[in-house]
Amino acid sequence: MRNSLEVRPLTGSIGAEIHGVDIADDLDDGTIGAIRQALLDHCVVFFRDQNLEPERHKAFARRFGPIFVHPFLRSKSTDPEIVEITREPGDTRIVGEDWHADTTMMPEPPMGAILYGVEVPPYGGDTLFANQYLAYETLSDGMKRMLEGMRALHSDRLVTGPAAAAKINAGRSTKTRDDSEWRETITAHPVVRTHPETGRKLLFVNRSYTVGFEDMTEAESRPLLDFLMEHGNQPEMTCRFRWRQGSVAFWDNRACKHLAINDAGQYRRVMRRVQVAGDAPR
Ligand code: SIN
Repeated sequence: MRNSLEVRPLTGSIGAEIHGVDIADDLDDGTIGAIRQALLDHCVVFFRDQNLEPERHKAFARRFGPIFVHPFLRSKSTDPEIVEITREPGDTRIVGEDWHADTTMMPEPPMGAILYGVEVPPYGGDTLFANQYLAYETLSDGMKRMLEGMRALHSDRLVTGPAAAAKINAGRSTKTRDDSEWRETITAHPVVRTHPETGRKLLFVNRSYTVGFEDMTEAESRPLLDFLMEHGNQPEMTCRFRWRQGSVAFWDNRACKHLAINDAGQYRRVMRRVQVAGDAPR
């Protein structure tokens, strides 16, 4: 079905709302191409007032690539292709509360994620996004030269497995793996990644997964890593999305980081997420 699509930028640096499209429809290739272009241009796009049943959610995701199955979240969903992210009143921890890109410890992290607001609090529970092209472009020439060719180690040990789960799961309704069969996944990726579709360079490190630089100790890595992570979260590089029931955020996981704000207080928040497979960062 053909929709007349309007792209409205949200800030000067990242994010756009897309209007005039029902993403539960069988969309024509031109409309899907326009959504993909808006995603590449703005790093994250938002849709309002959608009615996205799980099968339509997955069908929309598949127009952008195969579905990525999340390796460690134990959500309420029985469908492995869907993660339900639930925050109950009283939860002290939530999924995605640090600045991160999703599951970057994988050799091929997802290209994107499509998050749908099922039950949204009247206030609180917004999500922040930060443009990592800008993070790279605003570094000095000296820093850019130093980072050229450097690789960082991305591990899931901070967010899953028995040790992390002991701290996280007690405060959180959506649990992470805590079984003894769990084994760390660790992969080295370039610190400066070239986006496979736009050809632009971007900074590719994040709080949840990046634990150090290749061939350096974690203590040696920490000061530079901390600098790069904070540098990439500056307000001028971010947007903040206020959810309503039926809102959808579709982010380019290669080009931005995101953070879920844990301020929904007494309210429940239920989100449904489908991720799209990606390729090895280069
Ligand atoms: C996530 O990190 O994917 C969760 C984002 C959110 O719940 O807003």
